[in-house]
Amino acid sequence: MTQHEVGVLAGRGKTGRALARALRERGARVRPLGRADLDRLDPALSGCTAVYLMAPNLHPDEPALVADVLAAAQRVGVDRVVHHSVAAPYTPSMPHHLGKARGEDLVRRSGLRWTVLQPCAYVQNLLSGLRGDEPAVRVPYDPDRLFGLVDLADVAEAAARVLLEDGHEGATYELGGPRPVSARDVAETAARVLRRDVPLQRVPTDEAVAAAPEAEREWLRAMFEYYDRHGLPTGGLVLRALLGRGGTPLAATLARELGAGDPAAGPSATGR
Ligand SMILES: NC(=O)c1ccc[n+]([C@@H]2O[C@H](COP(=O)([O-])OP(=O)(O)OC[C@H]3O[C@@H](n4cnc5c(N)ncnc54)[C@H](OP(=O)(O)O)[C@@H]3O)[C@@H](O)[C@H]2O)c1
Repeated sequence: MTQHEVGVLAGRGKTGRALARALRERGARVRPLGRADLDRLDPALSGCTAVYLMAPNLHPDEPALVADVLAAAQRVGVDRVVHHSVAAPYTPSMPHHLGKARGEDLVRRSGLRWTVLQPCAYVQNLLSGLRGDEPAVRVPYDPDRLFGLVDLADVAEAAARVLLEDGHEGATYELGGPRPVSARDVAETAARVLRRDVPLQRVPTDEAVAAAPEAEREWLRAMFEYYDRHGLPTGGLVLRALLGRGGTPLAATLARELGAGDPAAGPSATGR
């Protein structure tokens, strides 16, 4: 049996660590790759059975990064590539989504055996505000807009399956959670999980982007403006098919991540 060894770009980031866990649980070896590996991609990828092609968050030139990795994979003979894109990549008003759309195009024309994953925003993105003494959901967009918020652990499990199993060549999979949820649903569900009030607050965009590096602020503003108007609805049936079970309900993700019991508190415990 093949001993899989997967080179994971941005492998020490939030997504990379979750994927590494899922791959190791399935007996695969993982090679997390970071900044220092970009200047030595050939040795970094040499001997891998697959590459997980993932740019770091808000990378300024994702297509160039994707092109470099594809070229190196071709040179050293790694012919299976899984591209970590995003839900709704062709969204011209969000430049970092557009970078992923261009990346997808490069992947499809690479001549390698490819699969594209399009995850929605993770539930985990909202956790920092829910930890600590005064948990709250604070977002710079309409709190009633709907998103296919997905559990990062589910995305990682789906990615590991696609990397290690056959049958996914030439597929593009959108990965949304089990049902559409809003920031208001997250606050209400967190309140049940934590058994306390969890205020929901809309914050000014300037405040939300203030901690980000200057170079990222414009793209973040564009993203929040889009979210404010449209949310980011994303279907959950593909994830269900890949995992052989429904995606993890919002209440269960929050309970696990916040170290609380799953309240299974009535019909609305999973959001809508
Ligand atoms: N968060 C979400 O809800 C969501 C949803 C869908 C898709 N995504 C996508 O998922 C991807 C991963 O996001 P993430 O937040 O998990 O990643 P992340 O935490 O930003 O990734 C950090 C990793 O990226 C590496 N890195 C940082 N700057 C780099 C550079 N200039 N060149 C090469 N590598 C660099 C770091 O290298 P070192 O190890 O050297 O520090 C580290 O391994 C992004 O493309 C994001 O758009 C995210």
